[in-house]
Amino acid sequence: MLPILSRKPVRWVAVLIVVAGLLLYAGLTARRHSREADLLRADPDLILAKPGLRDAALNIGHGVFEQHCAGCHGTEGRGSPGEPDLTDADWIYGEGRVSEIEAIVRYGIRSGNPKGWNLASMPVYASVRPYVAEPLPSLAPGEVDDVVQLLLSFEGRAADAQAVERGRAVYAKAGCWDCHGNDARGEGAVGAPDLRDAITLYGGTAMALRQSVEHGRRGVSPSFAGTLTSTEIRAVAVYVKSLSHGVMEGP
Ligand code: HEC
Ligand code: HEC
Repeated sequence: MLPILSRKPVRWVAVLIVVAGLLLYAGLTARRHSREADLLRADPDLILAKPGLRDAALNIGHGVFEQHCAGCHGTEGRGSPGEPDLTDADWIYGEGRVSEIEAIVRYGIRSGNPKGWNLASMPVYASVRPYVAEPLPSLAPGEVDDVVQLLLSFEGRAADAQAVERGRAVYAKAGCWDCHGNDARGEGAVGAPDLRDAITLYGGTAMALRQSVEHGRRGVSPSFAGTLTSTEIRAVAVYVKSLSHGVMEGP
């Protein structure tokens, strides 16, 4: 065969391969875009119940979590002192709906973003002015001892009965009820944790409790509004929800 005849078909085959590749790429991109659009159009709280959307969200969400959240919340989302476990059904903020988690990822907690959660933080009772937002009394070391005994009894741990009684008076006087509730069951609308369950954010030892009461706490979850796309934010919220809630179940 003459070289000129054999080269021509080769060139055509090459052109065809390139065109086919481009079409495939365009097709895949369009499919990805339409899947992302579907995710954004869907009711976030229903995505886990729709297998096609769920798989797309979990796929994107897992990668986002590993890159942006695991550093604080742990690769499996189990947290550590100060960073909440995201795999339990115990939520400090709201009730753990995908839409609520999405808002936390977007705007953060005490992140400086004005739309984030920033209604309350744990006052510093060992200081002259425990809290800027409202007048609260300082607590003397003995009063802190008593309220810590009360907190230990709330968690079902061994505590001095008389100190627990005095601790109730401290709980009332210091305005703990205002954020954590009269029953100390916490308040998801301000982010004040439940003080009666066995789950603690900073640890349940007398030392950790004393530290919280005397020196306050101000946990920060960053705002990702400028870092992640809307699709990524929604997807990671769905992924986080799936960690605490079997993937096969509904919202
Ligand atoms: C102005 C609202 C407010 C008041 C008043 C308040 N707390 Fe808190 N408290 C919070 C918030 C918000 C947190 C969570 C802080 C964080 O997540 O960083 C918290 C955290 C804690 C923690 C740590 C919980 C954990 O799971 O590790 C303890 C213990 C606690 N508070 C006890 C008390 C006691 C006792 C009083 C009264 C002497 C009191 N709080 C008064 C808002 C408040
Ligand atoms: C710099 C560390 C840090 C990073 C990064 C971070 N978080 Fe957080 N996150 C926290 C802390 C600390 C809290 C607890 C805030 C408090 O104490 O009130 C929190 C709280 C939360 C809560 C509320 C939990 C509850 O019980 O109500 C959710 C949901 C959450 N983070 C999701 C995420 C997701 C998803 C990402 C990644 C996109 C992320 N966070 C990245 C530190 C972080």
